[in-house]
Amino acid sequence: MPNNLTIIDNRTGKKYEVPIEHDTIKAMDLRQIKVKDDDFGMMTYDPAFMNTASVKSKITFIDGDKGILRYRGYPIEQLSENCTSFLEVAYLLLHGELPNRTDLDDWRQNIKLHTYVHENIKKLMEAFRYDAHPMGMFISTISALSTFYPEAKDILNPDVQRKQIFRLIGKVPTIAAFAYRHSKGMPYIYPENELTYAGNFLNMMFKIGEAKYKINPILEHALTVLFILHADHEQNCSTNTMRGIGSSHIDPYSACAGAAAALWGPLHGGANEAVLHMLDEIGSADKVPAVVKDVKEGKRKLMGFGHRVYKNYDPRAQVIKKLAYEVFEVTGKNPKLDLALELERIALEDDYFVKRKLYPNVDFYSGLIYQAMGFPMDFFPVLFAIPRTAGWLAQWQEHLSDPDQKIARPRQIFLGYGERNWVPVDKRK
Ligand code: ACO
Repeated sequence: MPNNLTIIDNRTGKKYEVPIEHDTIKAMDLRQIKVKDDDFGMMTYDPAFMNTASVKSKITFIDGDKGILRYRGYPIEQLSENCTSFLEVAYLLLHGELPNRTDLDDWRQNIKLHTYVHENIKKLMEAFRYDAHPMGMFISTISALSTFYPEAKDILNPDVQRKQIFRLIGKVPTIAAFAYRHSKGMPYIYPENELTYAGNFLNMMFKIGEAKYKINPILEHALTVLFILHADHEQNCSTNTMRGIGSSHIDPYSACAGAAAALWGPLHGGANEAVLHMLDEIGSADKVPAVVKDVKEGKRKLMGFGHRVYKNYDPRAQVIKKLAYEVFEVTGKNPKLDLALELERIALEDDYFVKRKLYPNVDFYSGLIYQAMGFPMDFFPVLFAIPRTAGWLAQWQEHLSDPDQKIARPRQIFLGYGERNWVPVDKRK
């Protein structure tokens, strides 16, 4: 079977053979298609990258129709069931293989060496208003790290790259917890490096007066699973931002800050916060039909539903739904669970959702767990950004080592004025 595409330009009658690789044609191969020699040549128009692959990647695989998610080939269900530490999965994303015992110990040790932040970071965070949104604090502080580690600019040096990866994965939980403590007016708790990644984070968040904060093992496990589920998701909006900013060869702190800003939006990682606001607003199960009616009339969206890639149940949502019951055994049931289940039941039976293949996504149930665990709603996007940092860094590293990549710079279809002459201010209409 020939592995190419024949294109006939009906404007000129000319025929072109374009090679196919991985079921894809190169957009640049269309540039030869012209009517006149001095034409720019054919481009594709694909707002929001609906059907454009911008990278070749070996990190995360998604089959949205079948509801499959794998990191480096391993199904998300197996990783979330069996990995006892988030750092094991972070290693997998960044190195391509699961670590053996020695590699895992070294990796953990390297990350633990970088969990503390410079005292000036603490002062910087203290400057935020008491009611500053924790995600705003998180983004600004990650960005500020670039000024503490100016050597990070040497992005193509593998040792420098590795060091910033240790620093970022090590420090994001500390910065996140400091943002929370700041908003509560509580003293910051320094990292305790003998704890697990999730355990240390819970300790920095919730320790108050006790000499030794007792971490509930079920909640620690639940947070580890949530971190694993959120660690990467191939070319989503924030990862594309990480790669796009990183393609200018800026340091990874600046790129991560940009990625985190993209994550914050309510159509992306901010959706879990939006889901709880929506459930609060709906209030009771008897209001669900009216809400679904509004959604169908285009008056509102059902937050936590729908996905650009998944046209089936989001496999992360399946794991989270199960996890929710384990967490509620400890914390007591989140009263919004029944409402969420009713909303899901009605939506999944409704033709509008069935026809559009709209299923609950990762954000539909994650917020219910986070809230039951005592995290405030505005902290949810920060909880997403902590593990996703590992994914952003894996994608950034892959991007920098990919010889196909250059600075990201899309084309446009210009539809504005042609050339026109400047008019003095008094003569303008
Ligand atoms: N509620 C109601 N209708 C929806 C929803 C929703 N949540 N999502 C999509 N639709 C409808 C659209 O109106 C559209 O209908 P139409 O064909 O009649 O115009 C159709 O389904 C297709 O939707 P698009 O907006 O074209 O899908 P897209 O891939 O651009 O958007 C997105 C995906 C942004 C996730 C969207 O589903 C959405 O806004 N969901 C709610 C926010 C959310 O939960 N975001 C979290 C995503 S997961 C994550 O980022 C971690």
